[in-house]
Amino acid sequence: MKILITGGAGFIGSNLVRLLVTKYPSYKIVNLDNLTYAGNLKNLADIENAPNYQFVKGDICDADFIQNLFSQEQFNAVIHLAAESHVDRSISNPIAFVMTNVVGTVNLLNAARYQYQKADNVFQKFYHVSTDEVYGALGDSGMFTEETSYDPHSPYSASKASSDHFVRAYHDTYGLPIVISNCSNNYGPYHFPEKLIPLALHNIKNNKSIPVYGKGENVRDWLYVVDHARAIDLIFHKAQNGSTYNIGGHNEWKNIDVIRLLCDIMDEKLGRAPSTSQQLITFVKDRAGHDLRYAIDAGKLKNDLGWMPSVQFAEGLQLTVDWYLNNEQWLNDVTSGSYQHYYDEQYVKR
Ligand code: NAD
Ligand code: TYD
Repeated sequence: MKILITGGAGFIGSNLVRLLVTKYPSYKIVNLDNLTYAGNLKNLADIENAPNYQFVKGDICDADFIQNLFSQEQFNAVIHLAAESHVDRSISNPIAFVMTNVVGTVNLLNAARYQYQKADNVFQKFYHVSTDEVYGALGDSGMFTEETSYDPHSPYSASKASSDHFVRAYHDTYGLPIVISNCSNNYGPYHFPEKLIPLALHNIKNNKSIPVYGKGENVRDWLYVVDHARAIDLIFHKAQNGSTYNIGGHNEWKNIDVIRLLCDIMDEKLGRAPSTSQQLITFVKDRAGHDLRYAIDAGKLKNDLGWMPSVQFAEGLQLTVDWYLNNEQWLNDVTSGSYQHYYDEQYVKR
């Protein structure tokens, strides 16, 4: 089984690549990533020399490059994670999200379709990794199911919704074997510190203010990233062709409560007096079009495939805080930008 994973140098992608490379020594895992600001090969330094792993630098927006790669490598499957993923960036630069998330996805679908139609049984699955944000925002009650209508509000979620529609269209029109999963907010190791949890940890450590949008009343359903990777592994191997699964933690928290909890954990770990770090909390202008609440009903995944989150939030936050405190160099490299030279140092000179 030769699997192309796109976006494997990012947050979720690197956790998934690590899981698959170590769990399936007989698979060949090819990680295609363009190493944007969000891609960091140091995320994979521990497995970069594994015999069943290969890194390829390239842009999914480059159709010719993608076609050539598929012709050369004859992939059996794709797990597609490459994306522009930060809502705030999508508000300031929507076109980048249309290019990577929509055009890039369609380029991959085209290459997969040609491969699928050319030789039966070689290409077996196109797995598209998506987000619960395609469903829009919930009020105080209810949960997103796989039947919830799409209603995206941000340029990010609109681009992901569009890519989901294209993936289903390639199944319905060309018979391409596909599966889609829509997951809630992830947290854990290798999370880029522009997102809420790693940003807060970084700022608490450095005694900088923690920006909380609006009143901090928005609710997110947090899932430990390794549980997301486990779910992808299960769905990839077991789900029926054409199916969709929601993945979530059954773990809803208001942003302000997550931040207060992080402050308390950090105060204890850093030996600061209780409530010290909460003084860093700063309420700032709300995000435009800020979705109030996300919550996933992951019942279908539990009933069909037996998946449940294995890491509870209290444990997952402890693991995450410990990881960031023990990996100071990783954080310094990311915040200084030096991680972006790692590809030249490790790969180009080889
Ligand atoms: P990320 O921003 O950390 O990583 C994205 C990766 O894609 C980076 O390594 C980047 O270099 C690569 N990339 C970007 N543009 C590319 C291009 N044009 N060509 C090739 N590679 C490119 O994102 P993430 O948080 O790991 O999310 C991964 C996927 O999971 C995304 O599709 C996202 O929509 C989805 N998702 C994320 C979350 C979450 O909480 N982070 C939740 C649900 C779904
Ligand atoms: P984020 O981590 O950007 O994920 P998403 O927008 O995909 O849910 O944000 C999580 C929540 O935290 C969201 O409600 C926006 C809020 N937020 C802040 O309050 N302050 C911040 O600095 C950031 C980055 C996010």
